[in-house]
Amino acid sequence: MHFIRVHLLFLQFFLIRESVGFIPQKWKSLYGALGVSHEEQTEIAIKQLWTPWFGLNNDQFTAAELYGMNNAIEEIASANANVDNDQTDGSLHFDGESFIQAQARLLDLAQQAIQLTKQQSYSGARKSIGQALHTLQDFYSHSNWIELLVAHGAELVPHPGVGVSGAMLHPLLWNVSTCNQCDTFRKDCGGCENNLLMNGLTTGYYSGEPDYQKPQAGKCSHGGQLDGSSTEFGVGITKRGQGINKDSTSCLLSPHRDMHHDAVGVSINATMIYLTDEIFKQLTTDEVKILFGVQAKKGATGMSLKALWGTVKDIVKLHKRQDFEPVQKLRAASAEHHTHTFIMADDIHDHGRTLLQAAAPHKIHPIHIVGRDIPTNNTHEQIWRDIAKCTGGHLLKVCENDTSAASEFLEMISPPGHVEVLSVAGATNGNGTMEFSFPLDSSLESVLITASGISTFDLFFPNGSRYPVEPSEDKGTHVKRLAANVAFNMTSVTTTGIYRIAFNSVTDYSLSVSGQSKLYLSSFNFVELAGRPGHEGRFSILDSPLSGERKEVEAIVHGNFTSGKFEFRTKDDMPLAEQDSIKIDDYCKHHGTRFQGNTTEIPASDFMVYFKGINHKGEPFQRARLYMVSPTRVQINMPRIISLKVGQTENVTVEIVNRNNITDTFDLFAVDSENIVKAVSASSILLDAGASGNLAIQLQPTVNATIGVNHLVVSAKGKKTSGNVGVQTIMIEPEQAPIAVKIASTVNHYFASEAASLIKRLKKGQGKL
Ligand SMILES: *[C@@H]1O[C@H](CO)[C@@H](O)[C@H](O)[C@H]1NC(C)=O
Ligand SMILES: *[C@@H]1O[C@H](CO)[C@@H](O)[C@H](O)[C@H]1NC(C)=O
Ligand SMILES: *[C@@H]1O[C@H](CO)[C@@H](O)[C@H](O)[C@H]1NC(C)=O
Ligand SMILES: *[C@@H]1O[C@H](CO)[C@@H](O)[C@H](O)[C@H]1NC(C)=O
Ligand SMILES: *[C@@H]1O[C@H](CO)[C@@H](O)[C@H](O)[C@H]1NC(C)=O
Ligand SMILES: *[C@@H]1O[C@H](CO)[C@@H](O)[C@H](O)[C@H]1NC(C)=O
Ligand SMILES: *[C@@H]1O[C@H](CO)[C@@H](O)[C@H](O)[C@H]1NC(C)=O
Ligand SMILES: *[C@@H]1O[C@H](CO)[C@@H](O)[C@H](O)[C@H]1NC(C)=O
Ligand SMILES: *[C@@H]1O[C@H](CO)[C@@H](O)[C@H](O)[C@H]1NC(C)=O
Ligand SMILES: *[C@@H]1O[C@H](CO)[C@@H](O)[C@H](O)[C@H]1NC(C)=O
Ligand SMILES: *[C@@H]1O[C@H](CO)[C@@H](O)[C@H](O)[C@H]1NC(C)=O
Ligand SMILES: *[C@@H]1O[C@H](CO)[C@@H](O)[C@H](O)[C@H]1NC(C)=O
Ligand SMILES: [Zn+2]
Repeated sequence: MHFIRVHLLFLQFFLIRESVGFIPQKWKSLYGALGVSHEEQTEIAIKQLWTPWFGLNNDQFTAAELYGMNNAIEEIASANANVDNDQTDGSLHFDGESFIQAQARLLDLAQQAIQLTKQQSYSGARKSIGQALHTLQDFYSHSNWIELLVAHGAELVPHPGVGVSGAMLHPLLWNVSTCNQCDTFRKDCGGCENNLLMNGLTTGYYSGEPDYQKPQAGKCSHGGQLDGSSTEFGVGITKRGQGINKDSTSCLLSPHRDMHHDAVGVSINATMIYLTDEIFKQLTTDEVKILFGVQAKKGATGMSLKALWGTVKDIVKLHKRQDFEPVQKLRAASAEHHTHTFIMADDIHDHGRTLLQAAAPHKIHPIHIVGRDIPTNNTHEQIWRDIAKCTGGHLLKVCENDTSAASEFLEMISPPGHVEVLSVAGATNGNGTMEFSFPLDSSLESVLITASGISTFDLFFPNGSRYPVEPSEDKGTHVKRLAANVAFNMTSVTTTGIYRIAFNSVTDYSLSVSGQSKLYLSSFNFVELAGRPGHEGRFSILDSPLSGERKEVEAIVHGNFTSGKFEFRTKDDMPLAEQDSIKIDDYCKHHGTRFQGNTTEIPASDFMVYFKGINHKGEPFQRARLYMVSPTRVQINMPRIISLKVGQTENVTVEIVNRNNITDTFDLFAVDSENIVKAVSASSILLDAGASGNLAIQLQPTVNATIGVNHLVVSAKGKKTSGNVGVQTIMIEPEQAPIAVKIASTVNHYFASEAASLIKRLKKGQGKL
């Protein structure tokens, strides 16, 4: 059995998704700076490793494999971009000659990624890898390594020690100068062509990093108009912006912008080497496959699903329920099976249910609720139904005498790597017959139809004739039933076009049509400007959007299509509004097709997001975003992203604005998966129409907190109105690494003062000492 403390469920709930360093993300780039971002470098590097690692060309992977692999890339790349939120710790970016600390970080994070993978914490491992890659990539942009290679006429190669286990880097002394003043740094980037002294390996200093302050005028600055260190020591305002960084191709930000693409090329190669030597070679083939998404997490979850069912059987039998220990009542029984989560309704206490209710709209995978099919507390049942409904899951009511085929049923409705075509739910109309239409295109494989709360169903081909579904004749491999729940495996799509399904339901129903496909909607996120002043970017906002406002959106579609557009529809499939302003972003094409733009006014009622169009074979296709959007009139304003060091306390103030036209009392809570919330200033707040109030939250990651990306969830639930949930990203950074131990275990020492002789050895093909 896979018992998980309720708040730990949050870890699974957020499969999310952010200086100056290589720009973090195209969309988040400052002042529209151009160049190859951290995210792009990461995507390019990992895709180039697919073939050598897994032995297949990129077009030989199945749809389900590509789905998992692209998700893994997105998780690693966004953790990478998030590092740029912290611009006060220079060692995250190799700034200010922080060689020892930055190197220790690279080695620690690799170790952590290996450890987390061994513990089957794959998502945590991906985030550690992303955090490390940021620092690794910044080395090539922030140091003079590229300039040194060019000056010595050497081939552009990664530094043989950076990020390599067993190696340590040692900086120059504080009094060794590395840069001349530029001949007046001009807005056209001129003046810094020859500022480097080339007497050793160095990195630029950046203002606002207390541990790595520029010690004397002769050290290089990072440079760019945001860097105050370029004018320290009274060198004069005309030098503002001087430095050596190659972050972008923008004059305002990058004095060595001409070498941006050289730095990017070497950085991508260094990324591939780090991933291969420090990660791939340290893991078993199966571990690598799961970590990088080519294989779904099998074995263990198959087991836990059986175990889950064992518990269901106990719970559906009333007399056995007394056996549960109080402590177990405080836990949610959940098994994350592939990308589906099953929750045992009866085994969750009230607070846990509230948390789930709050977090469910942000779950990217379906949550199926398994409960007893007996008359029950209607309020509870409605809450469970809402949780399933807003995540694209089902409320599966199961009878005591129905347990035999149940394990296979749960297995069948939770296949890995399926993409959604249609996701509807609601209460039946007067006569109990419901009908829905949906297109099936030939890119879909293994199409699966699942439904809850129905008695019979009929499926019709595009020409109107009945699709043969004969449960009685079927050997049970293509149709399975469990009480009023049905799963039907259509296998392949031989006839494309608009299908129709009709079914009878006496109660509430839910219906899902999904399949494996290389054409799918990967993400559709509402975004807001956030981040530290000077480093703002667009961040995905998981809160419910405010009704009546237009919201900015970013979306990614993978696969080939000729035309396509977004549309909002109600959960029972009535069209609400086409989203013509959300358009393809031609600027950034490497990883899927990216869309950007503003929505129409957000409706007042719940809605689904669909992407539909014509594929490259001329067939109509449709894809759904799994989770429903529940608009609100309560706004939660929070910093969106902060970085904390283990042991450091930080207070966050959250503003809650009641935009409803009535007074309401809001129940408040704040929770995270690492237990870093130490205190909150209030548990409820009374707000008049239009009024706002504050909630103060004290955060303190202990030594036991997992380093990496965590999420703080703040819920304000109204007594009369719906309320909202705010989500903030928290990057937990390690304490200063124990450097002495690292240096003692070092095999290869690289001294910055000996860079020239290192490069000479590299030219002779003798990189390592
Ligand atoms: C730099 O400082 C070290 C001691 O910290 C000293 O031994 C050395 O002579 C100094 N070098 C220069 C060039 O001033
Ligand atoms: C990256 O590595 C590959 C293979 O070693 C090499 O062909 C390529 O030139 C390198 N690219 C850069 C920009 O260094
Ligand atoms: C059902 O549950 C709700 C919420 O916990 C509670 O307020 C209500 O009293 C319960 N009703 C019954 C009949 O137990
Ligand atoms: C299970 O029990 C219900 C009534 O509780 C009954 O209607 C149904 O036919 C039974 N199913 C089986 C397979 O025995
Ligand atoms: C029942 O409802 C369905 C769908 O709303 C409709 O197509 C059908 O004609 C209705 N049947 C009767 C007998 O009213
Ligand atoms: C309708 O299409 C299906 C699948 O292509 C085919 O098997 C069936 O014969 C067609 N029916 C009619 C009446 O054309
Ligand atoms: C549907 O059937 C096909 C062919 O038998 C099989 O490969 C696939 O795994 C099945 N899908 C599900 C979800 O059971
Ligand atoms: C998209 O189309 C190109 C060219 O037809 C093909 O090489 C590629 O494999 C297709 N990609 C997908 C994901 O179907
Ligand atoms: C969306 O709207 C905002 C302000 O309403 C505007 O600043 C922004 O440029 C728009 N974005 C796009 C992509 O149209
Ligand atoms: C945070 O808030 C707590 C309680 O209100 C207070 O004691 C503490 O000094 C604050 N810490 C900081 C860093 O502001
Ligand atoms: C308050 O808002 C609700 C919907 O949000 C609306 O139906 C109602 O008319 C509004 N009342 C007033 C007085 O504006
Ligand atoms: C860290 O975990 C250990 C073992 O689980 C526990 O004994 C210790 O109290 C924890 N420390 C903190 C600060 O929470
Ligand atoms: Zn950086």
